[in-house]
Amino acid sequence: MSIPSAATAAFLEAYATEPAGLWAAPGRVNLIGEHTDYNDGFVLPFALPQRTVAAAGPAPDGRWSVCSTLAPDPVSFGVTTPGDVTGWGAYVAGVVWALKDAGFEVPPARIAIASDVPLGSGLSSSAALESAVLTALVDLGGLDVALERRPAIAQRAENVYVGAPTGILDQSASIRCQEGRALFLDCRTYQVEQIPFDLTAEGLAILVINSNAPHRHVDGEYGERRKSCEAAAATLGVAALRDVSTDSLPQALERLDDDVMRRRARHIVTENQRVLDTVSLLRSGRVREIGPLLTASHASMRDDFEITVDQVDVAVEASLAAGAYGARMTGGGFGGCVLALVDAERADATAAAVDAAYRKRDFTAPTSWVATAGPGAARL
Ligand code: GLA
Repeated sequence: MSIPSAATAAFLEAYATEPAGLWAAPGRVNLIGEHTDYNDGFVLPFALPQRTVAAAGPAPDGRWSVCSTLAPDPVSFGVTTPGDVTGWGAYVAGVVWALKDAGFEVPPARIAIASDVPLGSGLSSSAALESAVLTALVDLGGLDVALERRPAIAQRAENVYVGAPTGILDQSASIRCQEGRALFLDCRTYQVEQIPFDLTAEGLAILVINSNAPHRHVDGEYGERRKSCEAAAATLGVAALRDVSTDSLPQALERLDDDVMRRRARHIVTENQRVLDTVSLLRSGRVREIGPLLTASHASMRDDFEITVDQVDVAVEASLAAGAYGARMTGGGFGGCVLALVDAERADATAAAVDAAYRKRDFTAPTSWVATAGPGAARL
């Protein structure tokens, strides 16, 4: 069954009536620019074809109810504050709360969710859920919420209601990405540029390799990285590490006396520059040449930011050995997915090379597919 049909079926089953409509929001891969978002820096994600669909309709009881194909019994809540709803329903209650908190009259709604975004794989399944629900509620209520404002509202749901200290990358990608484009986002000003990203025309492909590695200590590690970056910025007397240029990096590093903090800062400053360099290469159609920037980004995440695990390092090495132009982990880290830029005709062979490398090490088998840039959140 397709994802929209599954969402409709779940809605009918739970509420014994037809939904008023279907709204979809995608997962994402981040081409480059990792952990730069909460440092006011630059990111370059594109939307995956995999998406989360919310079937939704008005609620006669004045409450909000949400179920999913994985949890068919609806979670139901009234006017809500952070802490009321826990578990997966918190992402939905958080959106209702954040919209209300931003001054909008949120329409009571019944919602049913279906999704093919892999869960817990660093592909933003939670942002896809928030963005699908937000888009549905905005449309159902006829709310005048400009597209540019929506990611920050969904991010508040996650930061304040769910309690995860994430940046604005994932929600921006899910809401603002466009088909066939990568989204160049300035996380300080929220300005975007839609960068044409049609690899098929170049005979290239992005192979996404889900390491299927178990996530470990993700929340604590993420928060720790964020704190180190903020402490480094404070020591340097800048608002955010975005304000340190690559030219001034050597002097900045001399002023940080902690080696860990130095390496965290170096990742952010060099990663911002790699995003800018990637964007200029893409703008001039030199797609193959972004490969070394992807690989350098991976080395920086592995050695300086220390957010990779063996499975993702092995996937990167095996892809490169199989001829990829570049490869890197994508997403928050500690597991998750790797992306490799390959000749389209080499995608299968690259995936097979990674499989073989995993078998040799007795890792759980990875899952790989070619990802094209899909559309952002919309009514279906
Ligand atoms: C997670 C967070 C994002 C971002 C990435 C790393 O996906 O949700 O805000 O920080 O990690 O780039």
